[in-house]
Order: sequence, then C-alpha cells, then structure tokens
Amino acid sequence: VSESFRRVRVALGARRGYEITVGAGALSRLGDVTRRAVGREARRVAVISNARVFALYGARAVASLRGQDFRVARWLMGDGERHKSLRTAERALAFLAESGIERGDAVVALGGGVVGDLAGFASALHLRGVAVVQVPTTLLAQVDASVGGKTAVNTAAGKNLVGVFQQPRAVVADTATLATLPARELTAGWCEAVKQGACGDRKLFERTKAFLAEGKRADADGRRLAELVAAHCEFKARVVAGDEREEVGRTDARSRRVLNFGHTVGHALESATQFRRFRHGEAVGYGMLAAAEISFRLGMLARTELESLREAVRLAGRLPPADDIDPKLVCRAARTDKKRRGGHTQWVLLERVGRARVVDGREVPASLLRASVGAALRR
Ligand SMILES: NC(=O)c1ccc[n+]([C@@H]2O[C@H](COP(=O)([O-])OP(=O)(O)OC[C@H]3O[C@@H](n4cnc5c(N)ncnc54)[C@H](O)[C@@H]3O)[C@@H](O)[C@H]2O)c1
Repeated sequence: VSESFRRVRVALGARRGYEITVGAGALSRLGDVTRRAVGREARRVAVISNARVFALYGARAVASLRGQDFRVARWLMGDGERHKSLRTAERALAFLAESGIERGDAVVALGGGVVGDLAGFASALHLRGVAVVQVPTTLLAQVDASVGGKTAVNTAAGKNLVGVFQQPRAVVADTATLATLPARELTAGWCEAVKQGACGDRKLFERTKAFLAEGKRADADGRRLAELVAAHCEFKARVVAGDEREEVGRTDARSRRVLNFGHTVGHALESATQFRRFRHGEAVGYGMLAAAEISFRLGMLARTELESLREAVRLAGRLPPADDIDPKLVCRAARTDKKRRGGHTQWVLLERVGRARVVDGREVPASLLRASVGAALRR
C-alpha cells in the first residue's frame, strides 16, 4: 500500500524542533517515527494509554514499535479528567521506573488530551526528563493538545495548575482513529478547531466551516479530514514557535495567549456546573459566543462577523443546553479565571474573525458582561 502522510514541522530551534505526522493510518508509522526521533541506541518504549483506547489501537501501536526492535511495556491509566492527577502521575512514574526506561528511551502517550497531558508530565519528571512521543486519538488532542508542549495535572486548587513545558519529540496523529470517537467528543474537538481559526487565522476558519457545512465531521473521506487536521497543527505550531512558553505580559495578536479565546467563560461555565455538564470543548463553544458578544457590544466586532462565528459554532455540533444557567454565576466564576494579570481578568476578544485582541477586564463593564453571557447561553 502506498500511504502518504502530511508532515508538519514545529520549529523550535535546531535541536528541539519536531515533526507531526498526520493522516489516516499514520499509526503504522509510529515505530519508525519514534526510532527516528530517539535514535538507534534507544531500546525501550513505555506506552501510557487507557483501557478504552488501548483496546482499540494498542495492538497496532505496539506492533509498529516492535517492528523497530523496541521492547515495549504498557500501563493503562483510568479514563477521564479526574484521573489527571498527581496520584496518577506518581503511579505512572513507578511504572516508568519498573520498566527500566533509561534517559535515551521514550514514553509514548496513546490517547486523548488526558492521557497526553499525564504521560507528558510524567515523562518530564522521570530521570529529569525522557523523550515523549504524542499519539493523539481525539480530535481535540490532534488539533490542539498534542502540539505545543504544555503538560499538566489537576489539583484541589484547580484544573491544569501544576505542570511543565515538555515538548514532544514527535507527534503521530492518525485521523482514522477519529472514526470511533463519540459524537460529543467530536463536537468538543470541532469547537476548539473553530476557536483556532477564529482567534488567529481567517482562512483556516473559513476552511473549517466549509468542511463542517458539508456535514462531514468525522468523515470516511480521510484525505480531506487529514489535510484539515494538518492545517490546524500548522496553525498551532506557528503560534507555539512564536511564543513557546506563553510569556507573561505578551498580549499581541501573535501571542499564545490568544488561543485562550472562549476560555474565560468556557472555564467559568464548567466550574459553575461542577465540571459535570459540559465537555471542555463544548463549554468553549459557549465561551466563544460570549466573547464575541462582548466584542460586538463594545463596538469592536461587526454584526456579520458575530453571525459568522455563531454559524461556525452551530456547525461544530449540538451543545448541551445552557439557558437554565444563571449568567451571574458564570460572571462570578469568570472573575477568578486563572489567566489573570494583576488581579484582573484578561479577555481575549475579536476585532474580526481571525484577529483577536487582549482586553483588560476593567474595560468590560459588569452589566455588558452579564448581558453578553446571557445572550450566549440563550443563543
Ligand atoms: N496540553 C495542552 O495544550 C492541552 C490543550 C487542550 C486541552 N488539554 C487537555 O486535554 C484534556 C481533554 O482532552 P480530550 O478532549 O482529548 O479528552 P479525553 O482525553 O478525556 O478523551 C475523551 C474520551 O474519548 C476517549 N477516546 C479517546 N480516543 C478515542 C478514540 N479514538 N475512540 C474512542 N474513544 C476515544 C477517551 O478514553 C475519553 O473517554 C483536558 O484535560 C485538557 O486540559 C491540553
């Protein structure tokens, strides 16, 4: 079979740049991608996954790695956000030690963003850091979480508050794995994809919207889906290359900060509903609507642009209803957003689709905020 995959380069300076291999069937390349990434001396690979994903794709991943003479050990963590914890990380570290993973060896993270974040985190700590290869199997992880090197666990203090930057040595995004993804996970992923276009790349936004308008979502025509996922990786790679560690104080339209478009209200909605009602991406769907409403009501964003964004969010998929949630609760939660500076929420708003601007919370009157959130939740 002749397979052709898209390759996207993340440029981070000579030694730390890495390649993303995207396409239907890319999992079969995991062995040689990993071998190229870690070199001939490496002997062992530790695969971290969960039971659901491993049952579907574990055998293929392991076979591909063994094909390159790696000795493969595996460890399965619990499924779900609550397992992204220090406790799980500690168990993962015990597994890495038991497996005899040495400095030159590698960890493979096979799964969605939860597995990717946890395995990335553990790989950064084991022996002060061993290589990690990310193998994202959700749309959200393929277009977003696996690229950029952020890793984290949740603590009692909040989500993603403890973590390290650990750039992967390679990423393998097999778009065929999206065929088994539950519908809501797809919606969450498409919301994040819409976000990436909306906050920084108008062409990507239009392309994503056009693809969704055809009713494709996770379609069997693998080539176009793969090309679109690759385009999203390229976008994320570009932003990350320009602002690898999300420098404090950077608020320009090219900063990593703009990727938080939709996240202030998104996080607030998640916490106002005890993280039970929404998938993160779904909450970001509402969050984008709220941020766009604020932008419109502040006179920054034209009505046609607001409508275009609304249409894109609608096309991303059905969101759980939110019209019973009190906007006041959401606004209160938004005021304690973790991406604050000097005690003030930093809003990522839109000047137009494809161009974001960071606005200090003091410039968004409370009544305007409440009305905007209310409008977004009612849609
Ligand atoms: N590091 C980053 O830059 C970054 C960016 C965005 C999000 N995140 C993190 O990512 C996490 C969310 O990731 P997610 O949305 O991928 O959720 P997830 O990892 O929980 O996966 C969603 C569900 O889909 C299942 N699954 C995964 N792949 C599958 C497949 N191919 N077929 C069938 N089922 C499959 C999983 O087992 C899980 O039940 C959050 O913890 C978030 O904080 C990190």
